[in-house]
Amino acid sequence: MKRDIRLNEPMARHTTFRIGGPAERFFVPSGIGDLRAFLEECPREEPMTLIGAGSNLLVSDDGIRGTVIHLGAFQSVRLDEDRLLSGAGVMLPGLLQQLARQGLGGLEFLGGIPGTVGGGVRMNAGTEGGWIADRLLSVTYLHASGALQRKRHEEITFGYRRMDLPEGTCIVGAEFRLEPDDPMRIAERLRERMAKRRKTQPIHLASAGCIFKNPPGDAAGRLIEAAGLKGARIGDAEVSPLHANFVVNRGKARASDVLSLIRRIQERVREDTGVDLEFEIEMIGVFEKGAVS
Ligand code: EPU
Repeated sequence: MKRDIRLNEPMARHTTFRIGGPAERFFVPSGIGDLRAFLEECPREEPMTLIGAGSNLLVSDDGIRGTVIHLGAFQSVRLDEDRLLSGAGVMLPGLLQQLARQGLGGLEFLGGIPGTVGGGVRMNAGTEGGWIADRLLSVTYLHASGALQRKRHEEITFGYRRMDLPEGTCIVGAEFRLEPDDPMRIAERLRERMAKRRKTQPIHLASAGCIFKNPPGDAAGRLIEAAGLKGARIGDAEVSPLHANFVVNRGKARASDVLSLIRRIQERVREDTGVDLEFEIEMIGVFEKGAVS
């Protein structure tokens, strides 16, 4: 079978920000065998970037060197009583709806996160309702060499938007523990969460979600609003007037506009409060030296 590798694929098509220059190579493996064979054949020096739904990414205007791997074909969902085994490419919103219909709760706090299972696990996605790690039983991943491994929750260290897997690994699936419950109650909890998001976050505009991590004991959104930056704009990149920790793309924003705007936010908040806001989004691709920190 012919391998699905596209050359110079515009990354703006694969990020919720709708921003990003071309990936030199963009590979959509058909399954674990295809991915494994590719990793085994690839020269060690080939840069590899694994992406999920692209909902937490700022990709540079100059694109990404090497190969971007997209696990869109990893769509298996297996249920075994209260355990779920999911492929990394499964989108969280559809999965949560399916689980609700089947009377399986426990993951409703992830409602509205526009990401994949793999991306959510890699970033330890979370809301005020909990972190994905809380429900995780194990993670299955491929090493850069192509070797397949499964790690149990207890063998992994999780932190705020991070987990410690070896460099260059591709998460291919994850196993979760769920809570059987009434389908109506689960659906109601999902609806409440979505309604809250619609009220407090600019979910209909292109963005990468929250730009900065919340500093200990405070909220980045509160600090940015207090600095008077709601609505601040560089090019088509704008600090959302609805939620100040979101930068939205009003049309033709470039990664360089977003980067200049988030640098301005960092400076202003540092001047006003002494707090150093840290990036929550991942920046990938060719940025000017020192941009990614
Ligand atoms: N706030 C402001 N101004 C704003 C936005 C927020 O004053 O413009 C204040 C709010 O009034 C509230 C506090 O800041 O007192 C916290 O705001 P919110 O409840 O909206 O939550 P958050 O801490 O800003 C976190 C996650 C979100 C997640 C929500 C809901 C982080 C960085 N953010 O936001 O995650 O959706 O809780 O659970 O942890 C993401 O990861 O991309 C993301 C959006």
